[in-house]
Amino acid sequence: MNYVSAVAVFLVPLAFAAPHGDGVNKAPHPDTEYLRVFALADGSFQVNVRGQTWLSSAPTFFNADGQTYAQGASLKLVSQSTTNGGDAYGFYTLYTFKYQAGQSKITASIRAYEALPFVYFSQSYDTGANRTKASSSQQTISGFPSFLVQATKTKQGPLGYLAYGGIHTADKAKSFGLFSKTGLHITDGLDFGPMTLFDGSGDTLIISPASNFMAVSNWYQRQTSDGDTCTLSYGIMGGVDTVPAGFSVDFIVYYSSQGVNQAFAGWGEHLRTVYERTDTYVLDDLTINYLGYYTDNGAYYYYLSEPHKTYQDTIIDVKANADQIQIPYKYIQYDSWWYYKGYDNGVKTWEARPDIFPNGFQFVFNKTGIPAVGHNRFWSNDTVYATQNGGQYNFIVESSTGKAVPNDQRFWNDLMRNASAWGLLTYEQDWLNVEFDSVQALHTDVTMGDTWLTQMASAAVQNKMTVQYCMSESRHIMHALQTNVVTQTRASDDYHPGNQQWRIGVSSIFAYAMRIAPFKDNFWSTSDQPGNPYKLSEPNTETHLIASVLSTGPVGPSDRIGYSNVSLIMRCCNADGLILKPSKPATAVDDQIYQTALGGYYNNGVFGEVWTTYSEVGGLRFGIIFVPDITGEYFITPSKAGFNMTQNQLMVFEAHDTTRKLAAFSDQAPLGIIDCYTAHPCLYHVTPVLTQSPKVVLLGELAKVVPVSPQRVISIDVTGNDVKVSLKGVPNEVVAFTFSVDSNIVTISCTFSSRAAVIDLTDRSCK
Ligand SMILES: *[C@@H]1O[C@H](CO)[C@@H](O)[C@H](O)[C@H]1NC(C)=O
Ligand SMILES: *[C@@H]1O[C@H](CO)[C@@H](O)[C@H](O)[C@H]1NC(C)=O
Ligand SMILES: *[C@@H]1O[C@H](CO)[C@@H](O)[C@H](O)[C@H]1NC(C)=O
Ligand SMILES: *[C@@H]1O[C@H](CO)[C@@H](O)[C@H](O)[C@H]1NC(C)=O
Ligand SMILES: *[C@@H]1O[C@H](CO)[C@@H](O)[C@H](O)[C@H]1NC(C)=O
Ligand SMILES: *[C@@H]1O[C@H](CO)[C@@H](O)[C@H](O)[C@H]1NC(C)=O
Repeated sequence: MNYVSAVAVFLVPLAFAAPHGDGVNKAPHPDTEYLRVFALADGSFQVNVRGQTWLSSAPTFFNADGQTYAQGASLKLVSQSTTNGGDAYGFYTLYTFKYQAGQSKITASIRAYEALPFVYFSQSYDTGANRTKASSSQQTISGFPSFLVQATKTKQGPLGYLAYGGIHTADKAKSFGLFSKTGLHITDGLDFGPMTLFDGSGDTLIISPASNFMAVSNWYQRQTSDGDTCTLSYGIMGGVDTVPAGFSVDFIVYYSSQGVNQAFAGWGEHLRTVYERTDTYVLDDLTINYLGYYTDNGAYYYYLSEPHKTYQDTIIDVKANADQIQIPYKYIQYDSWWYYKGYDNGVKTWEARPDIFPNGFQFVFNKTGIPAVGHNRFWSNDTVYATQNGGQYNFIVESSTGKAVPNDQRFWNDLMRNASAWGLLTYEQDWLNVEFDSVQALHTDVTMGDTWLTQMASAAVQNKMTVQYCMSESRHIMHALQTNVVTQTRASDDYHPGNQQWRIGVSSIFAYAMRIAPFKDNFWSTSDQPGNPYKLSEPNTETHLIASVLSTGPVGPSDRIGYSNVSLIMRCCNADGLILKPSKPATAVDDQIYQTALGGYYNNGVFGEVWTTYSEVGGLRFGIIFVPDITGEYFITPSKAGFNMTQNQLMVFEAHDTTRKLAAFSDQAPLGIIDCYTAHPCLYHVTPVLTQSPKVVLLGELAKVVPVSPQRVISIDVTGNDVKVSLKGVPNEVVAFTFSVDSNIVTISCTFSSRAAVIDLTDRSCK
């Protein structure tokens, strides 16, 4: 019996009558044909990729009335049906299962789109449910979809996974391995994140929430003894004891044939469309676009001021010194050292302490003249703002946890409006996980988490501010789909001199899918900074700088006065501090992810960190390959780099090679990468041949990390053999652009008299 007839025998016949009409009429996404979901009459299902089963269902379950009702046991299937329908995204087949769990009626449904490469799984609490809570808030109160965790082999080999998890854009507890009972070690519960499955051929699935991001989790029931079934369930988070009538949650399984980076790109694009997430706030955010000075954990002045000086004078001196040595910081980040803390170090009053800023925050703002990124943490139960403590705002105050959460739009509006007096431009909400995981109300109520973040974001919009997330779980990041104003997120653990937190190539894939700029955190630009509180030094200054610039997120040095490497820092930016960034964040190549997960089952990968990105200028792409760590040799091609630069012949050179030796680069002529170290990273630039005779290649502004950035280059015009490059900059800025003309290096220098200049290669001039 072949597979097709097996389907016909065992599965509900699901005749698909494609609906016709004036609905969606787009060409099918090319990946659609490889993804199939099959449902059985008893409510079980499987997800197939290219005719092979990648995921099989485990029993669906729902908690109600103090019990767990599971498929195949006490969960009563009242009815099931298969219908066709359509929505704004396309036509679909809808498999509906109506269940009775105790007193509750719950509908589970599967929506398989006809022309789109994804499937939705939905749980709808038609009558609501009572006494649902699980034995731990790390579990879920429901499971649909629930998947069996079992080894699966495709033609290529076993399935591997990357599961985001933990804090900092779900980077800190992310995991890789084989998708099997013994191989799956993921972070589940409140800290869970999107999970992706792949076999290394390009075929990739992503499983994630698609709605009510603050109210859902997954739950991995691991093997405890031989023969146990292992299951991975998606549902409402375990602390919830009451589900309101009509509440529903959705999960998506998204497929791509083009690998992990492309799968996240497509998944993100779909979700951004659903939630109408715009990147306008990201693109306009001063604290993302310009260089800033940081004082958070890892910074020289983190809970430290200059000897015998107040913090007020230290900050004012930092800015005065930067002006003197011409580092154009455009804002300052003020970490948790300036405000009042209460019980258990939560925030009591978010105002500057007189011992820190004796003349007040507004005075410091007046003296520095540049705006602020203002840090905040979780609220303590003795916060002065709560009515319970004599304040004027509604809070949920919990003495059981010693924490509190505002539940009052007016509070957030006032907090941010008051802070605009001292220059607040970006509100940094740190300790997101501690607030969420600790405050009972946030993880027992299905709407409170949403209310908290939505009010915060609305106040930011109203006050023309943006929001930076720090210590975010996946739920916070995905919730930002609903709040355009969350523009930036810490993408790895806190910086400490010498540590490895620059490794943001994997978390940046997730952040970029949500169009939130990933932030590497602060860094030192010189190795030794005497008197630092950590008693550490930084051997990898250049790797930190490059990782920051290529992130497209904030670039924030944190040096002691007198210890900045100005030439290193200024590789980030133009003379005005505008970051010369690429068009998208640098992300780890698929080969790095496959290798980490599949180990010996994958032969074409790379051990180390290989990230790629590009600048898009006037229809041309300029690629960047950053390699701060590698074991052995890796051969990369334009396809493996994800450049999709098919139109032109490509050349590649290494940024540190002063001979500017160019090599051809194509899928037939790969680049061999070897001997790149965190203290001496490799940085390759890929550039299209502009004219053949003479053979002209633009190397760009070699003094910068990104030599051809859309922040610098407006257009590249090739007419016959003439090449004109239009630039933007600031008056008096001196910029040198390098070309290779028939293998001769030609450097043309420009001094900007206004904000624009045009380089003419034929005349060797800049006007
Ligand atoms: C949940 O409890 C409320 C209050 O006791 C009750 O009105 C409601 O009918 C219950 N819902 C279900 C589905 O049992
Ligand atoms: C800040 O400067 C403004 C105008 O420049 C002035 O009105 C205000 O009093 C100053 N505030 C402080 C605290 O110095
Ligand atoms: C805050 O919580 C702690 C710990 O439960 C408790 O000891 C303290 O009294 C509470 N303070 C207020 C103001 O509620
Ligand atoms: C804002 O400032 C006003 C006036 O000083 C003060 O009464 C109020 O408590 C402040 N609110 C917040 C949330 O900071
Ligand atoms: C500053 O950085 C450059 C690299 O851009 C390096 O060559 C130089 O040695 C550094 N200087 C100091 C003082 O660290
Ligand atoms: C590659 O580029 C082509 C032409 O610009 C475009 O149609 C295609 O969608 C791109 N593919 C990817 C995976 O970005």
